[in-house]
Amino acid sequence: MPDTRHRNIVILTGAGISAESGIATFRDKDGIWSKYDLEEVATPEGFYRNPDFVHEFHNGLRESLQTVEPNPAHRALARLEAEHAGEVLVVTQNVDDLHERAGSRNLVHMHGELYKARCDRCMHVAEWRTALTRAVPCPACEASAAMRPHVVWFGEMPMEMDRIYAALAACDLFLSIGTSGNVYPAAGFVEEVRRAGQAHTVELNLEPSEGVSLFAETIHGPASTVVPAYVDSLVGA
Ligand code: OAD
Repeated sequence: MPDTRHRNIVILTGAGISAESGIATFRDKDGIWSKYDLEEVATPEGFYRNPDFVHEFHNGLRESLQTVEPNPAHRALARLEAEHAGEVLVVTQNVDDLHERAGSRNLVHMHGELYKARCDRCMHVAEWRTALTRAVPCPACEASAAMRPHVVWFGEMPMEMDRIYAALAACDLFLSIGTSGNVYPAAGFVEEVRRAGQAHTVELNLEPSEGVSLFAETIHGPASTVVPAYVDSLVGA
């Protein structure tokens, strides 16, 4: 039975949706921030202090994407986009490409993408699959030592915020999947949705997030199980 209750659906995803594909989360035990100091590897100041180390960190993350695959949760969201009669927008905090590989097309990477690099000098954004170093010149302006990962670091503005806030204001259903609710502005989206009106809000996460009390409905369990089941409840099994 197709979902006729909700026209516009916005889905926020975080590291938890990619965990079962084999990509480490940030704040879980053994997560990335238990091994690296985020001030060193995920801030502009850290990059200017030690660009080689920050390149190395991101090169490792980029390379690891070659050995992972989308899991049933990514595929279920792509199916929802294909089969739902209204608009489905996925807003991901993840810098991996698993949503697009699963088939999601209406997608915002609010924290950027590991498979892109940007020139700090001319702001050119290029597809980037290989290792990035200071020796690599910008493919557009040829400046040296100017390329950086096209990812959002702490203290920087996330991408496409106007588009995201417009979608949040217009949605009837807001899902938050696999995110701990620690990082703003994403952690504030559920309140934004509630302020805007009548949308139903659902958290799907392994465990209650920081913001769990802000959601009307909560479903706890591994994303590869709970997300396909929830999508089945919307568009049919
Ligand atoms: P976190 O590592 O903070 O949170 C991951 C969440 O996923 C936790 O609440 C886990 O309980 C949950 N989780 C783990 N395994 C899961 C599974 N199999 N199924 C469902 N949920 C699972 O990651 P994010 O919330 O995405 O930003 O972190 C937000 C931002 O902080 C990231 O985009 C990154 C990071 O620092 C930047 O680097 C700018």
